[in-house]
Amino acid sequence: MIKLSNGHQLEFVAASGSLAFDGRGWPWEWPLRWTGLLDPRLFTVTAKTLLPTEWKGNLRWAHPFDVLKFVSREGNPINPAIAIARRGSIGGVVNAIGLTGPGIDKWLKRDYPVIESKGYKVIVSITGPGGGQGCFEMVKRLEGINIVGIEFNASCPNTDPTLLQNPDIVVAQCRAIKEATDRPLLLKLSYSQPYCEIAKRVEGLVEAISINTVPWKLVFGDKASPLARYGGGGVSGPVAQPFIWRMISELARTTSIPIIGAGVWEYEDIARLKTLRASAIHFGTIFFHPWKPTSYVKKWMEVRYE
Ligand SMILES: Cc1cc2nc3c(=O)[nH]c(=O)nc-3n(C[C@H](O)[C@H](O)[C@H](O)COP(=O)(O)O)c2cc1C
Repeated sequence: MIKLSNGHQLEFVAASGSLAFDGRGWPWEWPLRWTGLLDPRLFTVTAKTLLPTEWKGNLRWAHPFDVLKFVSREGNPINPAIAIARRGSIGGVVNAIGLTGPGIDKWLKRDYPVIESKGYKVIVSITGPGGGQGCFEMVKRLEGINIVGIEFNASCPNTDPTLLQNPDIVVAQCRAIKEATDRPLLLKLSYSQPYCEIAKRVEGLVEAISINTVPWKLVFGDKASPLARYGGGGVSGPVAQPFIWRMISELARTTSIPIIGAGVWEYEDIARLKTLRASAIHFGTIFFHPWKPTSYVKKWMEVRYE
Protein backbone atom coordinates (compact mmCIF):
# COMPACT_ATOMS: atom_id res chain seq x y z
CA MET A 1 0.00 0.00 0.00
CA ILE A 2 1.28 3.46 -0.89
CA LYS A 3 0.01 6.38 1.16
CA LEU A 4 0.16 9.55 -0.93
CA SER A 5 0.65 13.01 0.57
CA ASN A 6 -3.01 13.91 -0.04
CA GLY A 7 -4.18 10.89 1.97
CA HIS A 8 -5.12 8.66 -1.00
CA GLN A 9 -3.96 5.07 -0.72
CA LEU A 10 -2.78 3.09 -3.71
CA GLU A 11 -3.03 -0.66 -3.58
CA PHE A 12 -4.37 -1.93 -6.92
CA VAL A 13 -3.83 0.34 -9.90
CA ALA A 14 -5.16 -0.03 -13.45
CA ALA A 15 -2.19 0.93 -15.63
CA SER A 16 -2.45 3.69 -18.20
CA GLY A 17 -4.06 2.37 -21.39
CA SER A 18 -6.02 -0.41 -19.69
CA LEU A 19 -9.33 1.32 -18.83
CA ALA A 20 -9.41 3.98 -21.57
CA PHE A 21 -9.56 7.70 -20.86
CA ASP A 22 -12.50 7.74 -18.46
CA GLY A 23 -12.11 4.59 -16.35
CA ARG A 24 -15.06 2.74 -17.93
CA GLY A 25 -12.76 0.60 -20.05
CA TRP A 26 -12.86 0.26 -23.84
CA PRO A 27 -16.33 -0.18 -25.38
CA TRP A 28 -15.87 -3.94 -25.95
CA GLU A 29 -15.28 -4.28 -22.19
CA TRP A 30 -18.49 -2.50 -21.17
CA PRO A 31 -20.67 -5.64 -21.06
CA LEU A 32 -18.21 -7.07 -18.52
CA ARG A 33 -18.52 -3.89 -16.46
CA TRP A 34 -22.32 -4.02 -16.63
CA THR A 35 -22.26 -7.56 -15.28
CA GLY A 36 -19.69 -6.75 -12.57
CA LEU A 37 -16.99 -9.01 -14.02
CA LEU A 38 -14.88 -5.89 -14.49
CA ASP A 39 -15.22 -3.47 -11.59
CA PRO A 40 -13.20 -0.24 -12.04
CA ARG A 41 -14.02 0.74 -8.44
CA LEU A 42 -11.60 -1.89 -7.14
CA PHE A 43 -8.71 0.04 -8.72
CA THR A 44 -7.16 3.45 -8.77
CA VAL A 45 -7.50 4.00 -12.50
CA THR A 46 -4.69 5.62 -14.48
CA ALA A 47 -6.26 7.32 -17.47
CA LYS A 48 -4.59 6.74 -20.84
CA THR A 49 -1.77 9.25 -21.34
CA LEU A 50 -2.74 12.76 -22.45
CA LEU A 51 -0.73 15.35 -24.34
CA PRO A 52 -1.28 19.12 -24.37
CA THR A 53 -3.23 18.89 -27.63
CA GLU A 54 -5.00 16.16 -29.57
CA TRP A 55 -2.40 13.58 -30.61
CA LYS A 56 -2.76 11.39 -33.68
CA GLY A 57 -0.18 8.77 -32.68
CA ASN A 58 -0.19 5.56 -34.73
CA LEU A 59 -3.54 4.05 -33.75
CA ARG A 60 -6.32 4.02 -36.35
CA TRP A 61 -9.51 2.81 -34.71
CA ALA A 62 -10.63 0.92 -37.83
CA HIS A 63 -7.40 -1.16 -37.76
CA PRO A 64 -6.23 -1.44 -34.12
CA PHE A 65 -4.24 -4.60 -34.81
CA ASP A 66 -1.94 -2.69 -37.16
CA VAL A 67 -0.19 -1.34 -34.04
CA LEU A 68 -0.86 -4.09 -31.55
CA LYS A 69 0.26 -7.70 -31.93
CA PHE A 70 0.09 -10.75 -29.73
CA VAL A 71 3.33 -12.70 -29.97
CA SER A 72 4.60 -16.10 -28.89
CA ARG A 73 7.50 -16.50 -26.43
CA GLU A 74 9.78 -16.52 -29.49
CA GLY A 75 8.36 -13.22 -30.75
CA ASN A 76 6.29 -14.65 -33.62
CA PRO A 77 2.91 -12.98 -34.24
CA ILE A 78 -0.21 -14.90 -33.16
CA ASN A 79 -3.70 -14.30 -34.52
CA PRO A 80 -5.57 -12.15 -31.92
CA ALA A 81 -8.62 -14.45 -31.85
CA ILE A 82 -6.41 -17.46 -31.09
CA ALA A 83 -4.42 -15.48 -28.53
CA ILE A 84 -7.53 -14.43 -26.61
CA ALA A 85 -9.07 -17.92 -26.74
CA ARG A 86 -5.85 -19.78 -25.91
CA ARG A 87 -4.26 -17.75 -23.14
CA GLY A 88 -1.35 -20.16 -22.86
CA SER A 89 -0.26 -19.32 -26.41
CA ILE A 90 0.51 -15.71 -25.47
CA GLY A 91 4.17 -14.92 -24.85
CA GLY A 92 3.52 -11.22 -24.86
CA VAL A 93 1.96 -8.21 -26.49
CA VAL A 94 3.82 -5.62 -28.52
CA ASN A 95 2.23 -2.25 -29.13
CA ALA A 96 3.17 0.92 -30.95
CA ILE A 97 0.05 2.98 -30.31
CA GLY A 98 2.17 6.08 -29.80
CA LEU A 99 -0.14 7.92 -27.39
CA THR A 100 -3.12 8.53 -29.68
CA GLY A 101 -5.45 10.67 -27.58
CA PRO A 102 -7.82 13.63 -27.32
CA GLY A 103 -5.52 16.14 -25.58
CA ILE A 104 -6.14 17.71 -22.19
CA ASP A 105 -8.95 20.12 -23.08
CA LYS A 106 -11.16 17.56 -24.79
CA TRP A 107 -10.45 15.12 -21.95
CA LEU A 108 -11.60 17.70 -19.39
CA LYS A 109 -14.79 18.27 -21.34
CA ARG A 110 -15.56 14.71 -22.50
CA ASP A 111 -13.98 12.24 -20.06
CA TYR A 112 -13.61 13.96 -16.69
CA PRO A 113 -17.41 14.42 -16.26
CA VAL A 114 -17.81 10.64 -16.69
CA ILE A 115 -15.14 10.01 -14.05
CA GLU A 116 -16.82 12.46 -11.69
CA SER A 117 -20.28 11.00 -12.18
CA LYS A 118 -19.01 7.44 -11.63
CA GLY A 119 -16.89 8.45 -8.63
CA TYR A 120 -13.80 6.68 -9.99
CA LYS A 121 -10.44 7.32 -8.32
CA VAL A 122 -8.25 8.52 -11.17
CA ILE A 123 -4.61 9.33 -11.80
CA VAL A 124 -4.07 11.54 -14.85
CA SER A 125 -1.14 10.42 -17.00
CA ILE A 126 0.56 13.19 -18.94
CA THR A 127 3.48 13.76 -21.25
CA GLY A 128 4.46 16.23 -23.92
CA PRO A 129 6.36 16.24 -27.21
CA GLY A 130 10.06 17.05 -27.46
CA GLY A 131 10.89 16.09 -23.87
CA GLY A 132 7.66 16.84 -22.04
CA GLN A 133 6.83 20.28 -23.39
CA GLY A 134 3.56 21.64 -22.12
CA CYS A 135 3.39 19.47 -18.98
CA PHE A 136 3.54 22.50 -16.67
CA GLU A 137 0.53 24.05 -18.45
CA MET A 138 -1.36 20.74 -18.47
CA VAL A 139 -0.95 20.39 -14.74
CA LYS A 140 -2.29 23.92 -14.29
CA ARG A 141 -5.33 22.99 -16.42
CA LEU A 142 -6.04 20.16 -13.96
CA GLU A 143 -6.35 22.51 -10.96
CA GLY A 144 -9.64 22.24 -9.15
CA ILE A 145 -10.73 18.79 -10.36
CA ASN A 146 -10.96 15.78 -8.10
CA ILE A 147 -8.13 13.38 -8.99
CA VAL A 148 -5.75 11.19 -7.00
CA GLY A 149 -2.55 12.44 -8.61
CA ILE A 150 -0.57 13.00 -11.76
CA GLU A 151 1.62 10.42 -13.48
CA PHE A 152 4.37 11.78 -15.69
CA ASN A 153 4.91 9.28 -18.48
CA ALA A 154 8.61 9.75 -19.20
CA SER A 155 9.10 6.43 -20.97
CA CYS A 156 6.82 5.87 -23.96
CA PRO A 157 8.83 3.67 -26.38
CA ASN A 158 6.75 4.74 -29.39
CA THR A 159 7.09 8.53 -29.52
CA ASP A 160 9.81 11.16 -29.54
CA PRO A 161 12.76 9.54 -27.66
CA THR A 162 13.94 12.75 -25.92
CA LEU A 163 12.72 11.70 -22.46
CA LEU A 164 13.96 8.13 -22.85
CA GLN A 165 17.43 9.35 -23.73
CA ASN A 166 17.85 12.27 -21.32
CA PRO A 167 17.59 11.65 -17.59
CA ASP A 168 18.33 15.35 -16.94
CA ILE A 169 15.19 16.37 -18.83
CA VAL A 170 13.08 13.82 -16.93
CA VAL A 171 14.32 15.22 -13.61
CA ALA A 172 13.82 18.81 -14.77
CA GLN A 173 10.25 18.07 -15.86
CA CYS A 174 9.45 16.47 -12.49
CA ARG A 175 10.69 19.67 -10.82
CA ALA A 176 8.64 21.84 -13.17
CA ILE A 177 5.48 19.79 -12.56
CA LYS A 178 5.96 20.02 -8.80
CA GLU A 179 6.31 23.79 -9.14
CA ALA A 180 2.93 23.84 -10.86
CA THR A 181 1.06 21.69 -8.33
CA ASP A 182 0.91 20.25 -4.81
CA ARG A 183 -0.72 17.09 -6.07
CA PRO A 184 1.12 13.78 -5.70
CA LEU A 185 3.41 13.12 -8.67
CA LEU A 186 4.07 9.61 -9.95
CA LEU A 187 6.79 8.91 -12.49
CA LYS A 188 6.66 6.20 -15.14
CA LEU A 189 10.02 4.79 -16.17
CA SER A 190 11.26 2.07 -18.49
CA TYR A 191 13.86 -0.66 -18.33
CA SER A 192 15.73 1.13 -21.11
CA GLN A 193 16.42 4.19 -18.94
CA PRO A 194 18.98 4.60 -16.12
CA TYR A 195 16.04 4.12 -13.76
CA CYS A 196 17.98 3.84 -10.50
CA GLU A 197 19.87 7.07 -11.19
CA ILE A 198 16.65 8.90 -12.09
CA ALA A 199 14.84 7.53 -9.03
CA LYS A 200 17.57 8.76 -6.68
CA ARG A 201 17.43 12.21 -8.26
CA VAL A 202 13.65 12.61 -7.93
CA GLU A 203 13.40 11.56 -4.29
CA GLY A 204 11.36 14.20 -2.49
CA LEU A 205 9.50 15.10 -5.71
CA VAL A 206 7.98 11.82 -6.81
CA GLU A 207 5.71 9.73 -4.57
CA ALA A 208 5.62 6.51 -6.59
CA ILE A 209 7.35 4.95 -9.58
CA SER A 210 5.49 2.89 -12.16
CA ILE A 211 6.89 0.78 -14.98
CA ASN A 212 6.37 0.93 -18.73
CA THR A 213 6.62 -1.65 -21.51
CA VAL A 214 10.07 -2.90 -22.58
CA PRO A 215 11.40 -1.89 -26.03
CA TRP A 216 11.26 -4.82 -28.48
CA LYS A 217 15.02 -4.90 -29.08
CA LEU A 218 15.79 -5.50 -25.40
CA VAL A 219 13.46 -8.50 -25.25
CA PHE A 220 13.99 -10.07 -28.68
CA GLY A 221 17.35 -8.65 -29.82
CA ASP A 222 17.76 -8.55 -33.59
CA LYS A 223 14.63 -10.57 -34.37
CA ALA A 224 12.42 -8.45 -36.62
CA SER A 225 9.46 -6.95 -34.80
CA PRO A 226 6.01 -7.21 -36.44
CA LEU A 227 5.88 -3.47 -35.68
CA ALA A 228 9.33 -2.72 -37.14
CA ARG A 229 7.96 0.15 -39.20
CA TYR A 230 7.00 1.94 -35.98
CA GLY A 231 10.42 1.42 -34.38
CA GLY A 232 9.73 -2.03 -32.90
CA GLY A 233 7.13 -1.22 -30.23
CA GLY A 234 6.99 -1.85 -26.49
CA VAL A 235 6.64 -5.39 -25.16
CA SER A 236 4.60 -6.46 -22.14
CA GLY A 237 3.13 -9.69 -20.77
CA PRO A 238 4.96 -12.88 -19.74
CA VAL A 239 8.11 -12.33 -21.87
CA ALA A 240 8.63 -8.90 -20.30
CA GLN A 241 8.40 -10.16 -16.71
CA PRO A 242 12.13 -10.87 -16.15
CA PHE A 243 12.97 -7.29 -17.20
CA ILE A 244 10.23 -5.69 -15.11
CA TRP A 245 11.04 -7.79 -12.07
CA ARG A 246 14.75 -7.02 -12.27
CA MET A 247 13.84 -3.35 -12.44
CA ILE A 248 11.64 -3.58 -9.35
CA SER A 249 14.25 -5.35 -7.22
CA GLU A 250 16.99 -2.92 -8.25
CA LEU A 251 14.77 0.09 -7.58
CA ALA A 252 13.68 -1.30 -4.21
CA ARG A 253 17.34 -1.61 -3.21
CA THR A 254 18.23 1.88 -4.45
CA THR A 255 15.44 4.31 -3.69
CA SER A 256 13.03 5.13 -0.89
CA ILE A 257 10.31 5.96 -3.46
CA PRO A 258 7.61 3.26 -3.38
CA ILE A 259 7.22 1.15 -6.51
CA ILE A 260 4.06 0.08 -8.28
CA GLY A 261 4.96 -3.39 -9.51
CA ALA A 262 3.92 -4.49 -13.01
CA GLY A 263 4.04 -7.72 -15.00
CA VAL A 264 1.03 -9.46 -13.42
CA TRP A 265 -0.19 -12.34 -15.57
CA GLU A 266 -1.16 -15.10 -13.13
CA TYR A 267 -2.78 -14.54 -9.71
CA GLU A 268 0.42 -15.74 -8.00
CA ASP A 269 2.35 -12.86 -9.58
CA ILE A 270 0.77 -10.48 -7.05
CA ALA A 271 2.51 -12.28 -4.18
CA ARG A 272 5.70 -12.41 -6.21
CA LEU A 273 5.65 -8.62 -6.66
CA LYS A 274 5.14 -8.18 -2.92
CA THR A 275 8.20 -10.36 -2.32
CA LEU A 276 10.17 -8.14 -4.69
CA ARG A 277 9.08 -5.24 -2.43
CA ALA A 278 6.59 -3.58 -4.77
CA SER A 279 4.32 -1.44 -2.58
CA ALA A 280 1.31 -1.46 -4.92
CA ILE A 281 0.24 -3.55 -7.92
CA HIS A 282 -0.29 -2.42 -11.50
CA PHE A 283 -2.56 -4.29 -13.91
CA GLY A 284 -1.87 -3.51 -17.58
CA THR A 285 -1.66 -6.15 -20.30
CA ILE A 286 -3.67 -8.63 -18.23
CA PHE A 287 -6.70 -6.41 -19.04
CA PHE A 288 -6.71 -8.10 -22.48
CA HIS A 289 -8.57 -10.69 -20.41
CA PRO A 290 -10.73 -7.93 -18.94
CA TRP A 291 -12.28 -9.98 -16.13
CA LYS A 292 -8.96 -11.22 -14.73
CA PRO A 293 -7.77 -8.17 -12.75
CA THR A 294 -11.15 -7.91 -10.98
CA SER A 295 -11.13 -11.62 -10.15
CA TYR A 296 -7.53 -11.46 -8.88
CA VAL A 297 -8.23 -8.46 -6.63
CA LYS A 298 -11.41 -10.03 -5.22
CA LYS A 299 -9.55 -13.27 -4.50
CA TRP A 300 -6.67 -11.36 -2.88
CA MET A 301 -9.09 -9.50 -0.61
CA GLU A 302 -10.98 -12.67 0.30
CA VAL A 303 -7.78 -14.46 1.26
CA ARG A 304 -6.61 -11.44 3.26
CA TYR A 305 -9.85 -11.21 5.26
CA GLU A 306 -10.28 -14.96 5.83
C1 LIG B 1 -2.15 -1.54 -25.44
C2 LIG B 1 -1.34 -0.80 -24.43
C3 LIG B 1 -1.47 0.59 -24.31
C4 LIG B 1 -0.71 1.29 -23.37
N1 LIG B 1 -0.85 2.65 -23.27
C5 LIG B 1 -0.13 3.32 -22.35
C6 LIG B 1 -0.27 4.74 -22.21
O1 LIG B 1 -1.06 5.40 -22.89
N2 LIG B 1 0.51 5.35 -21.28
C7 LIG B 1 1.37 4.67 -20.48
O2 LIG B 1 2.02 5.29 -19.64
N3 LIG B 1 1.52 3.33 -20.59
C8 LIG B 1 0.79 2.65 -21.50
N4 LIG B 1 0.95 1.29 -21.60
C9 LIG B 1 1.86 0.60 -20.69
C10 LIG B 1 1.08 0.04 -19.48
O3 LIG B 1 0.44 1.07 -18.78
C11 LIG B 1 2.01 -0.71 -18.51
O4 LIG B 1 2.92 0.20 -17.98
C12 LIG B 1 2.79 -1.84 -19.16
O5 LIG B 1 1.95 -2.62 -19.98
C13 LIG B 1 3.44 -2.72 -18.10
O6 LIG B 1 2.47 -3.22 -17.23
P1 LIG B 1 1.93 -4.74 -17.36
O7 LIG B 1 3.10 -5.61 -17.15
O8 LIG B 1 0.91 -4.89 -16.27
O9 LIG B 1 1.35 -4.85 -18.71
C14 LIG B 1 0.20 0.58 -22.54
C15 LIG B 1 0.33 -0.80 -22.66
C16 LIG B 1 -0.42 -1.50 -23.59
C17 LIG B 1 -0.24 -3.00 -23.71
